[in-house]
Amino acid sequence: MINIWIDTDPGIDDALALAMAAASKEQIHVIGISSCGGNSSLETVTENALRLSSYLGMEDAVVVRGAAVPLVRKKRDAEAVHGANGLGNVEIPATEKKAIEESPFLAIRNKIMEVEGKITFVTLAPLTNVATLLRAFPELKDKIEKIVMMGGSAGPGNDTPYAEFNIWGDPEAAHIVYNSGLPIVMCGLDVTTICGMTREAVAELVASDDELLNIYGRMMDFEFNQPYYINEPLLGIHDATTILYLRFPELFGGVQSTVKVDCSERETVGQTVCTEDPNGNVFLLNQVDQPKLMATVIEMLKELSASLK
Ligand code: RIB
Ligand code: CA
Repeated sequence: MINIWIDTDPGIDDALALAMAAASKEQIHVIGISSCGGNSSLETVTENALRLSSYLGMEDAVVVRGAAVPLVRKKRDAEAVHGANGLGNVEIPATEKKAIEESPFLAIRNKIMEVEGKITFVTLAPLTNVATLLRAFPELKDKIEKIVMMGGSAGPGNDTPYAEFNIWGDPEAAHIVYNSGLPIVMCGLDVTTICGMTREAVAELVASDDELLNIYGRMMDFEFNQPYYINEPLLGIHDATTILYLRFPELFGGVQSTVKVDCSERETVGQTVCTEDPNGNVFLLNQVDQPKLMATVIEMLKELSASLK
């Protein structure tokens, strides 16, 4: 069993990552979920994390309300891609579940320290929470086996020509995390843009009379029809690749690297400069079996839905 903590800003692909985790109960135990301002405001992404964790049957996963804004720079969002409610304006059933708001970082630290053995930290948002935790509680480094991060790119960015959104969202936090000395599996755009859902696959989900499949289909259909994706053949399932890597590492390939984050005031701010390095602390994913991965995503959504009935 892999014990994980998920840091997230739901977010349509974050929602898919949470579904993949919920569909992996035999292999992955989600200790907790922390929200981070990113795709949308902290209030919105926290409410989404609460509703999704309840809807997906992750009742025992505590939800902690994290940072609203980056360490240094102005907050930016991605509502142009994820919609005003962060989930393609698709309604997830409301929940009574409440987030921990009192001393959130101490709460996360204590939850992780309570776990027997080490955990894997899965990051799906700007790295503000992770950087804060590592700085405030250095003892956590002995409890974290590795960080599996959706973020960065050895090539072009997506929010600027140079920077991927999660890094661009808080470059200083990313600098702290990449230089923490912890092993990192980087699920950056190099792999997330070559795996994803086809329009046919999304249309099938939208047409499904299964509630969960239909909800996920409508979220993805919304994103597929935003200006960023309207002419794209594949819808990036960015965040979900982190969980899918944990489940099926054999579907992926990568290269050991060292990564430097551009924290300048130049137009390249947020760029991850990646150098192949056998002694680097970052395993940068850049290969994936896309057809197998997409079929697996759909299968896992179907199994999850059946298990929740
Ligand atoms: O670049 C993709 C990342 O930015 C994903 O985490 C997505 O949810 C957005 O936050
Ligand atoms: Ca995200």
